Amino acid sequence: MSRFSFLSGKTVVITGSSRGIGRETAHICVEAGARVVIHGRNEAKLNEVAAALLEKGGVVRMVVGDICDPQTAADLKQAADELSGCDVLINNAGTSMRGPFSEIRTDVLESVMRTNVIGSAVSTQTFLADLISVRGSVIFISSVSGMRGFPGISIYSAAKMALTALAQSIRAETSPTGLHVGIIYIGFTENDPDKEIYNADGSIMHSKRKHDMTQRDVAAEILLLAGRRKYRRVLTSKGWLLLTLDRLAPRLVDHIINRSGGRFHSLLK
Ligand SMILES: NC(=O)c1ccc[n+]([C@@H]2O[C@H](COP(=O)([O-])OP(=O)(O)OC[C@H]3O[C@@H](n4cnc5c(N)ncnc54)[C@H](OP(=O)(O)O)[C@@H]3O)[C@@H](O)[C@H]2O)c1
Repeated sequence: MSRFSFLSGKTVVITGSSRGIGRETAHICVEAGARVVIHGRNEAKLNEVAAALLEKGGVVRMVVGDICDPQTAADLKQAADELSGCDVLINNAGTSMRGPFSEIRTDVLESVMRTNVIGSAVSTQTFLADLISVRGSVIFISSVSGMRGFPGISIYSAAKMALTALAQSIRAETSPTGLHVGIIYIGFTENDPDKEIYNADGSIMHSKRKHDMTQRDVAAEILLLAGRRKYRRVLTSKGWLLLTLDRLAPRLVDHIINRSGGRFHSLLK
């Protein structure tokens, strides 16, 4: 029996699946016999992903729209309803930034917070009643840099950390219902070459860098979190090291980060 057999016959909604980790998550779902709703702003990219999933025999719906727009959440729900309703919601759409805090333009601050936090919150609100009715799962995608604030990515760290509070609060509010609320802290993962990262001035950069995990392996971990109905998963040994050190010796972590001159986070994220 496959590790993903729990997905067979289920409907999975994956926000931000036009590329990267979200796209790979959709592939594993389809391979395991799940129906998927894929989503993003880039229609051409989404069409490519949909075509590849259909080639694998997938049952797919596609939603184009900004995750910060409440209409997008409504469209995601309609698409999931056409596939007999959402069983698993993966709040994957996210955007990252680089730059010193003092220089981050207000629209960049807002965009990073809205995409990562408000987008996840509104999608979850939209599906909450449906997910509770099927004792489904909602998964939040955080980062190792959401476990600890890092220099050079301040508002991204803040946004990913906010997801911890959001997941904890929703979990507490819904605890009698059987809803599963999971959060995963992702480490340094391979990027698509066209992954977009904001600079502090709002311009976009593409980052090519070393990674500790493939997109496919991260996608598998996200889905296993849902399958095993675990609350939390921290990826990569560096992520675990940070978690442990920050608990045992937070001042030491402060010291290392302060001495690293902004390079420390690039070892971890
Ligand atoms: N890669 C890593 O090393 C890493 C590490 C830690 C955490 N994470 C988190 O993991 C998730 C996926 O990362 P990734 O590397 O696969 O990122 P990615 O390649 O940049 O993909 C992000 C996805 O989100 C969508 N998206 C971004 N902003 C959106 C918006 N405003 N409205 C709708 N869709 C939007 C993008 O689609 P469109 O451009 O088509 O809108 C894309 O499909 C993110 O939440 C990220 O923060 C990644």
